Amino acid sequence: MTTIIPLAEIDPALVEDLLDAAFGKRRSQRTAYKVREGMEMLEGLSVAAVNMAANELLGSLQCWPVALTDDKGKMHPMIMVGPVAVYPDCQGDGIGQALMNGLLKELQQDESLPLVMIGDPAYYDRFFNFSPERTGGWTLPGPWDPERLLVRAPKDAPLPEKGKLGPWQKPDPA
Ligand SMILES: CC(C)(COP(=O)(O)OP(=O)(O)OC[C@H]1O[C@@H](n2cnc3c(N)ncnc32)[C@H](O)[C@@H]1OP(=O)(O)O)[C@@H](O)C(=O)NCCC(=O)NCCS
Repeated sequence: MTTIIPLAEIDPALVEDLLDAAFGKRRSQRTAYKVREGMEMLEGLSVAAVNMAANELLGSLQCWPVALTDDKGKMHPMIMVGPVAVYPDCQGDGIGQALMNGLLKELQQDESLPLVMIGDPAYYDRFFNFSPERTGGWTLPGPWDPERLLVRAPKDAPLPEKGKLGPWQKPDPA
């Protein structure tokens, strides 16, 4: 039985063990980590899947404040989703979907910012309407596969065609 709770309630060392198990030890070299470098996790949107009865962490989903900087230098804030990780021996049991539904439930009140992620479209498009369709002109601070750069936003939401994705920095007060 899976319960979704705030990730902030989990010991960070346990989350690191889970991420190592799902993505391997070299995961911090991935481009996704560079996109949100220096940012604090968005605690209100980051969730854990746990088996309460067994007191076990099964999966986690983290969110980060990032921004797409367009060619005029304007920053468009977005929420970066990921990593989404499920322990290998628990995969395929609906935990990944429960985590994402946990996030979408938190966002229900105010789904105003686009969600962006690097992930498998065969999973994230199929279940959650993330798509690479509108990210073709975007660049990242490292190598990436364009088919895996996904965004979820209402069709009529204005999204820059071109831009560079990186950490969301507050503009310097003038
Ligand atoms: C990707 C991940 C989060 C999915 O969570 P999960 O709990 O295993 O998946 P769910 O139980 O919610 O969904 C299962 C369904 O999704 C499919 N699926 C799972 N991972 C998939 C992937 N990477 N690509 C395509 N389909 C996938 C399964 O085949 C299954 O389909 P079915 O219902 O038709 O049999 C999880 O497998 C994971 O942590 N993997 C390791 C990290 C990774 O490889 N991530 C790559 C994507 S960023």
